[in-house]
Amino acid sequence: MKGLILSGGHGTRLRPLTHTGPKQLIPIANKPVLFYAIEDLKEAGVTDIGLILGTNMPEMVKEAVGDGSKFGVNITYIMQGEPKGLAHAVAVAQEFVGKEPFIMYLGDNILKSGIKEFVEGFEESDYQARILLQKVENPQQFGVAELNQEGHVIHLVEKPKEPKSDLALVGIYLFKSSIFEAIKNIKPSWRDELEITDAIQELLNSKKKVDSHIVRGWWKDTGKPEDVLDANHLILDVLESYNDGKIEEGAKINGRVAIGEGTVVRKGSVIRGPVIIGKECVIDAYIGPYTAIGDHTTVTGGEIESSIVMGHAKIECNERIVDSLIGNHSCIVSVENRLPKGRRFVIGENSVVNL
Ligand code: G1P
Repeated sequence: MKGLILSGGHGTRLRPLTHTGPKQLIPIANKPVLFYAIEDLKEAGVTDIGLILGTNMPEMVKEAVGDGSKFGVNITYIMQGEPKGLAHAVAVAQEFVGKEPFIMYLGDNILKSGIKEFVEGFEESDYQARILLQKVENPQQFGVAELNQEGHVIHLVEKPKEPKSDLALVGIYLFKSSIFEAIKNIKPSWRDELEITDAIQELLNSKKKVDSHIVRGWWKDTGKPEDVLDANHLILDVLESYNDGKIEEGAKINGRVAIGEGTVVRKGSVIRGPVIIGKECVIDAYIGPYTAIGDHTTVTGGEIESSIVMGHAKIECNERIVDSLIGNHSCIVSVENRLPKGRRFVIGENSVVNL
């Protein structure tokens, strides 16, 4: 079985972070979200992986993933160009996939329990597709499946205004090569995209069998800032502690805390886990639960909690920062006694500041 990971898309809901990098490289507990997908595929025994790239800085994905050897997989890069929908991305990968069954994994989705169980038995079955579902409170924002009393998929709709169920399509799908024919028969949707949901509905229309599984554990589509922070919480919930840095006497560490190489936690600091701190950081502050701090970051003074700081950042203030996403090379500093009083900002396009 082959694997396809989709890493196109503009990530508009994650601007300004996606002005300087693709959304699939946004770190969750200090690891790009895309890496979790690669690891899930590897764990399920899928090592021949096509990585589909869009137009938003694809070279950054190539640099981060390389040829896949560091994950124990083999990566082939496939250029989608302008993203015209998930079904378009699959169609672009037809030559790579050939006649084999394949798994398609959206590179911004993250799943607790992996995909081993989901993949089992599909190859030898007569199902032409298998979809993964989860109950959600806002089905209007997803592809939605309707099942009959026996649990068979009977109908799928992309982002319905009046959903027939609360079962959302998780962005992980199994297909046989019949999907390519189905894709040829669909038309662009209201958002002008070739929807994979419509292609699966097309399989159903031509009496092909489609199977479904319900997700065990949690699943997150990290398309929006609040979802990225939620995913960070969920991953940090199972963090294992380690200390490769230096904790000065008089610093207080509680709960599960992971500290990277070359990092110094100064005396008087308080770190309350779960917290992950990368390499070569300096911490002289309060770091509260569910915070991930990337490499080469300095935090002096103040408090930071339930946030992601991506790396190479400087935070020197006596403020309390919560539920925040702070991009690479950002700087938050207090400027004392400067007149006129007031907050001073240098903020890029599409930034959000809540005061
Ligand atoms: C896509 C799919 C949708 C699915 C979702 C899961 O939505 O079109 O059916 O439920 O991924 O993440 P999009 O992220 O393109 O809005």
